[in-house]
Amino acid sequence: MMRRCLFFIAVCHGVLGDVVQLEKMYGRIASPDFPNVYPNSKERTWNITVPRGYAVRIYFTHFNMELSYQCEYDYVKLRSGGELLASLCGHQSTDTEEAPEEKPYYSAGNNLAVTFRSDYSNEKEFTGFEAFFAAEDIDECKQLIDGEPLCEQHCHNYLGGFYCSCRVGYLLHRNKRTCTGRDGDRRAGITS
Ligand SMILES: *[C@@H]1O[C@H](CO)[C@@H](O)[C@H](O)[C@H]1NC(C)=O
Repeated sequence: MMRRCLFFIAVCHGVLGDVVQLEKMYGRIASPDFPNVYPNSKERTWNITVPRGYAVRIYFTHFNMELSYQCEYDYVKLRSGGELLASLCGHQSTDTEEAPEEKPYYSAGNNLAVTFRSDYSNEKEFTGFEAFFAAEDIDECKQLIDGEPLCEQHCHNYLGGFYCSCRVGYLLHRNKRTCTGRDGDRRAGITS
């Protein structure tokens, strides 16, 4: 295995193809040899990580991959937090295959892995993809955990994070999320 590490970018060639580690707030990725025809039997993963409190937004400006049933031959796969977000191929979406067209994709957490894969043969020539990504602030105040907002009373979002505060007469509990009455009574549930 060969390893090459330059500042925040490390390219490691392993059995599963190249893995490019990207720790950047924004950038561009493209299929091998883009804008020319992509080679056969190639697999490359760009592992994009942005700071905590941000999500990765990715947008494809060019997408032209071989179409196969359920994208089993050539594909671009997006994975985040161990989940498959999308399996993409072709040029436009069909009933059974998805192509990105104008749609942006968002990671679930602060990491997005984009895998390009081509099989051993292509009957036509395909130019692959070009995509741009950027870190986008997650608005934690709009999120729910088990159906509950993150803050019991007031929630304040900022770039890369959030904090909670309480109404007059309440103190923020040590958990930094819920509010306690001055007399020490927990007044959860009183939220208007
Ligand atoms: C991608 O990066 C994340 C976070 O740095 C790491 O946990 C994960 O193992 C990496 N995945 C690959 C395929 O390198």
